[in-house]
Parts: sequence; structure tokens; C-alpha cells
Amino acid sequence: MQNLTENPAGSLAFAWRSTQNRETAYVEIAPFRSGPDFSELVERFNAEHHQVYFHGLTDHYFKATVGELTPDTRYLVRVGSDCCRSEWFEARTAPEAFEPFSFIYVGDTQNDILSYAPRVYRNIATHFPDARFVMHAGDLVLSSGDDDTWGEFYEAGSWLFRQIPQFPAPGNSDHNRWTLEPVDTRKLYPQWHATFNLPGNGPEGLEGVTYYVDYPGMRLISLYSNFESMADDRHIYIREDLRVTHELVASQTEWLENVLASNEQPWTAVVFHHPVYTARNDRENEWLRNEWKDLFDWYGVDLVLQGHDHLYSRGHGPDSLETGSVPVYAISLAGPKMRPADKNHTWFDVVHEGIQMYQAIHVSEKELRYEAFGQKRELLDAFVIARDSNGTKHFTDLWNN
Ligand SMILES: [Fe+2]
Repeated sequence: MQNLTENPAGSLAFAWRSTQNRETAYVEIAPFRSGPDFSELVERFNAEHHQVYFHGLTDHYFKATVGELTPDTRYLVRVGSDCCRSEWFEARTAPEAFEPFSFIYVGDTQNDILSYAPRVYRNIATHFPDARFVMHAGDLVLSSGDDDTWGEFYEAGSWLFRQIPQFPAPGNSDHNRWTLEPVDTRKLYPQWHATFNLPGNGPEGLEGVTYYVDYPGMRLISLYSNFESMADDRHIYIREDLRVTHELVASQTEWLENVLASNEQPWTAVVFHHPVYTARNDRENEWLRNEWKDLFDWYGVDLVLQGHDHLYSRGHGPDSLETGSVPVYAISLAGPKMRPADKNHTWFDVVHEGIQMYQAIHVSEKELRYEAFGQKRELLDAFVIARDSNGTKHFTDLWNN
């Protein structure tokens, strides 16, 4: 697993797991060569070991971050130990300054992952091989699963997860159903914290779920939205001993405001699981709108990327400051669990049902171009946000025009 660091131009982050504890686990890195003759250039960095005991199984996880690298440079990397190592795979640092780049956004994979998610990841890898990272809007795995659900996730992403950094936000199904009685208790899978090597710059207690990265040109923000029912009848935990409280939610919103207020990047994308505007008639997320929407409007967030509804929709909110501006809200899904949209909702301009999708976002100084695809690579949505010399944003719908 490769992830973005806080300094993507100068460092690379990796995490992996094994059924056995390898005392000498490490990451090895070398400057990229087209041929195999680079052994004298290899540098080795020891990995941190984490142990996860879950449903009778103990897995060993490892993390290593390599720094002092050259911006916009390809490297060859492998991870493991003396006995068992990965293949040499490619990794690439970000440029030091803004250069045009593309990234991918996907929604829930969640159900029957190994049967249905691989073709999405393969389409992403072949359609957009130069994408710089993949954003996940939560529900990567199944809430009622055992460790196999994480095994399926790893195998589904395969070498794509090693070669392209993943930028995940946790969904409700990334929490395991711990107990139903006397209190419905859900805990973020311990595998989450072990699987990803994410920046620790979130608010205290929310490290590893709430974080941001400045990829040159765009501030990327992951938020924790799983606080929909902090009533007495449900307890939600981020770690074994850390229950989500109203104070924690408030500290995240305060953190979000600081991160948006200090943003010097021309573009901003926020990813989290529950939609600010749902497209389902059996759902309503007013609590989320109350918490964050005004901040998104005030600070001019460009993209709000979400999942959870098991369909695709895109639009401006019904109570947006100004239709045709930002933010643009999108909901997508990559997995097989499908739900119908409520056509009475008026906030979205595009809706698709029953299609596994992926989105490519192309970012340059003057415009952000968004495209959504089905698995035949058919275009299913497109829009552009242009940015003029004053920094003012202008939205153009390419799908409905
Ligand atoms: Fe969900």
C-alpha cells in the first residue's frame, strides 16, 4: 500500500502486512532504471511493526516512510524482509510546484469486493496510468466481515495500491459491528489504522482518519463523517478506547475551518463518506449540512466527493449560494450494491443507477476538468470549473449541454 505524505514532493509512504512477524522488515528504494542493474543504488529503511489481533487471527503490519527524495522523480521500491519481498514496483514523488496532474475518485467497494472491484481498479490503471493518487470516499470493506474483507480489499487493488498512492476516508462500513446488545457498538476496523500510512496532521484523536495533503496545486482533505447517530443507542469508536463524542466532532470542524482558512492552494477537494445532499428518499443528512456546508461555501471548496448512497449523482446543493459556482457535490460507487435514486430530489443535475463507476479529475492552473466513467470506459458525466486570473471560479456543465 502506498499513501501520500504531508510532503509528497520529498517523501513516499508505504504499509504492508504479513501473517508472520518479520523482525527485519524494511523498504528498499533505488533511483528508477529501465534495466535491472541498480542493485548498488539501493537504500534500505527499517519499518515499524504493528500487530493486529482480530477474530482469532493475528496479522503483522509494517509501515515505512522514506524522505529526502527528489521532487517529480520516479523510484523503484520493494518491501518485505530477507525471506519474502515484493516485486520492484514504481513510485513517484510529486513536483515541487504546481504542474497539471490527474487523480481518481472512487466510491464504495464494500460488498463482494474480490468479485467486482478488481475490474474497476484495472480500468483505472489502464485508462489513467499516470494518475497521481486515488481518493476513496469510504466503505472500502464490509462492516459484518472478518479479516477476509481486508484480504479481498488488498487483492482487489493488487499492484495498483503499491504503485499509486491511495487517499482513503472511512465510511460507516469500515467500522466493524462489535456488539448489538446492550448497546449497538461499532468500531473502526483496527486494520484501517494498520493498512494505511497516512499523515498524522488531523485533530487529536482523529489522526489517520482526518488529515490533509497539499499536492502542489490542490489541498486534499479527508474528513470523518461517521457521527450520524451518537445517541445513547449507538456507540462509535475510532480506536479501541476512543469513542466519538460531540466534542470530537466539534474539534474536527474547528480543524477543518483552520485548514481551509490557511489554504494557499488554488484548488480544494474534500472527501468523506456521507453525502451532504443525499439522493435517496430513505436518507437525510441534515446534521452533516449543519456541520460543514457553510465552511465549504465560505472558503470556496471546489469538489466535495462522497459515497454511501450506492448510486451516482452530481450537482450543486438546492440552497447553494449561487448555482453555477462551487462547490460541486458528487456521490459515486465502485461496488455491486445498487440502490435507486429518489427522483424527487432536485439538487442533482446528473444521476446514474446500477453502474459501477470511477472518476478522473484533471487539474491545471486554469481549469479543473471532471469526468465520470462506467466500466466500458463510457463517459457518464463531465464538467469544468474554470479559474480566471482573479481566482474566481466558473462552472460549466458538459454533460447536460
Ligand atoms: Fe455507507
